[in-house]
Amino acid sequence: MATTLDIGGLPAVWLRDNCPCPLCRDPSTGQKLFQITDLPLDPVAAEVHERGSDVEVVWAPDGHRSVYARAWFDAPGEPDPRSEDGKSLWTAAEPDAPRREFAWSDYTRDPVPALTAVQRFGLALLRGVPCVEEQVLAVAGTFGFVRETNYGRLFDVRVEDRPNNLAFTSARITPHTDNPYRDPVPTVQLLHCLVNEATGGDSGFVDGFRAAALLRAERPDAFRVLVGTPVPFEFRDARTRLRAHRPIIGADDAGRVREVRFNNRSMGTLRLPADELADFYAAYRAFAEVLARPELMLTRRLKPGDCVVFDNTRVLHARTAFDGAGRRHLQGCYADLDGLAGTLDVLDRRTGDAS
Ligand code: OGA
Ligand code: ZN
Ligand code: ZN
Repeated sequence: MATTLDIGGLPAVWLRDNCPCPLCRDPSTGQKLFQITDLPLDPVAAEVHERGSDVEVVWAPDGHRSVYARAWFDAPGEPDPRSEDGKSLWTAAEPDAPRREFAWSDYTRDPVPALTAVQRFGLALLRGVPCVEEQVLAVAGTFGFVRETNYGRLFDVRVEDRPNNLAFTSARITPHTDNPYRDPVPTVQLLHCLVNEATGGDSGFVDGFRAAALLRAERPDAFRVLVGTPVPFEFRDARTRLRAHRPIIGADDAGRVREVRFNNRSMGTLRLPADELADFYAAYRAFAEVLARPELMLTRRLKPGDCVVFDNTRVLHARTAFDGAGRRHLQGCYADLDGLAGTLDVLDRRTGDAS
């Protein structure tokens, strides 16, 4: 029996573009086989047939047949996994703060809780990770691929004689995201503590999304300025020159925060008309003041065998100064959030299959 198809006023071309048939999608890869320009300019669902839980559409003018599962029409749109929606924003003062720690022995059996914490809170602390050099690469390998940079596949965070970065001194490092001078920025960072015998050198973490949301509520003008002003970030040493122009707060069209880049050490010289510079500096300072509120910072002293895994587009990290004569050695590396999210999806699917 032919019926009319109610797709809530959605254009027919959308429905036709989503045809799941084997002429439209390669059955083995699931990938689309046509270009948008291959479709008729104005496809019309000429016939619609209900067939049990399926709906068949015969298209004019070309007679193509599509079969859709009825349930597919009602599937919700997927939210952007990177935006603040669907995440739990925190301050250290709130009980929901990401205090949970994950034992390495549990993690190797089931990484889902810790990886979910990285997605949700932007941070997970793994404890009892084997305290051997390069282990941080193995941790990254449990959920993704290491992003190699000019610092190497991994970097050693310890006092160096001729540092190319203040991270490799004993100086205090205020809350920052790493490598804002890269585009794309590494979206996951790991820091694995091998030795921490120095006085000082305690770690701090701040939810940059929460800070940005506070700024948006308290100083919407400043929030808008930071979202709308690309800032030059730079790094250089004897063999490397890196530059990226990105705003300090990245937001989507609806104003939802999806990225924070904040690093006083690597901000270059902003060149703008005088009045815009004044507005930018007022906004930049206002955000820095929010980020520096003590109640926002979760503090931790990393012990050997601790490995923090965090969202480098969201969570800022810091350390207090330490006595340079004391031994302190972390190893860090970068990876990416899309790989982490994909690993979680695959693990979820497996769990789903098993049940
Ligand atoms: C870094 C860094 C912090 C620390 O290496 O990116 O910020 O605890 N290190 O030494
Ligand atoms: Zn088709
Ligand atoms: Zn850092």
